[in-house]
Amino acid sequence: MDLTQIIYASRPFGFDASVLSNLLVDARRCNARDGITGALVCRRDIYLQYLEGSDRAVRNTLERIRRDDRHVELVVHHDAPSHTRLFSDWAMLHDPAHSWTWSEAEVADGALDRALPADFLNVFLGIAQRQ
Ligand SMILES: Cc1cc2nc3c(=O)[nH]c(=O)nc-3n(C[C@H](O)[C@H](O)[C@H](O)COP(=O)(O)O)c2cc1C
Repeated sequence: MDLTQIIYASRPFGFDASVLSNLLVDARRCNARDGITGALVCRRDIYLQYLEGSDRAVRNTLERIRRDDRHVELVVHHDAPSHTRLFSDWAMLHDPAHSWTWSEAEVADGALDRALPADFLNVFLGIAQRQ
């Protein structure tokens, strides 16, 4: 099956446990409906999300997410076709970023702006492997 995978980063606006849990409820409900799977890395300074599904579903979802006022400064870092799902069992896996590539200091220093699409993909390949 032809799939699209997209990774974006954004900055949380009003990040706390209840915002995060509401957001995951929304995401999982919509994604189950739309045939989307993926993972969301969350920390107080960043959301990093991987979405996979049909091209149309992924792009429609990204546009809804872009308009969401629970985050700002959304930047797409990876957008590519794929043939297999990394997170086929997950409407949206939640990863609290405990063992994560970039520290808060590095993110604040612009590390994401200097990273390559492959670096972002590797984050999620690692998360998928640990499942
Ligand atoms: C960081 C973040 C991740 C989100 N992830 C998803 C997602 O994976 N799928 C989804 O449908 N909505 C996701 N949402 C929620 C959407 O922005 C939106 O609220 C939801 O799709 C419902 O859309 P609607 O209010 O237009 O019906 C996310 C929002 C944020 C802030």
